[in-house]
Amino acid sequence: MEKYLEELKKYAEKNHIPIISESGCDFLINFLKKIQPQKILEIGTAIGYSGSKMLLSLLNTNLITVEKKSEFVQFAYSTFKTVGVLNRAKIIHGDAFDVIQTFPRQSFDFIFLDGPKGQYLKYYPYIKNILKKGGYIFVDNIYFHNLVLGPKFVKHKLRTIVVNLRKFIDIISTDSEVKTTFYNIGDGIAIINKL
Ligand SMILES: C[S@@+](CC[C@H](N)C(=O)[O-])C[C@H]1O[C@@H](n2cnc3c(N)ncnc32)[C@H](O)[C@@H]1O
Repeated sequence: MEKYLEELKKYAEKNHIPIISESGCDFLINFLKKIQPQKILEIGTAIGYSGSKMLLSLLNTNLITVEKKSEFVQFAYSTFKTVGVLNRAKIIHGDAFDVIQTFPRQSFDFIFLDGPKGQYLKYYPYIKNILKKGGYIFVDNIYFHNLVLGPKFVKHKLRTIVVNLRKFIDIISTDSEVKTTFYNIGDGIAIINKL
């Protein structure tokens, strides 16, 4: 399976499909092995790389993963089937903002936020609501190619994403209902623990 996922990673790189960095993925998997969540929600399936990595390292865990691009939904389905985790994975084809509002309170013990970076601010209250107490939100690319920490001026095209990520960082750092830790790994990772 690992060999297949290595090939998948190369395919993603060649075809400019964004997937989690190697260092980010190692960190994610080590963290998950420690906390052993039962139910994971992933926002941003892409071709099923991180989803497969998570499920192959956690044998008693179920995953719900959300993706808006239909060709990626098909691709991820075939990835999960090939690596033998399809029975523990459910792919929801849709816009993450609509989908997160359909789950009952405290549905998940781990949420991997790896979708549209500019939307995390808007997602946050809903994501927090569907996370169990004691659960974790793992946010990848929190520093967005270092633009979030960098100089104030950002090119117009990326400005909304960067401004929203800065506001998001502000909120998760000051929200008294959570404890957030930032890691300078990959493109920046935040782990938000719901108290
Ligand atoms: C960084 S990629 C996910 C990579 C994947 N988690 C991995 O590491 O293998 C982000 C994905 O989010 C999807 N996406 C973007 N906006 C979305 C939205 N509003 N709702 C659901 N998925 C979205 C993109 O199509 C893309 O596949």
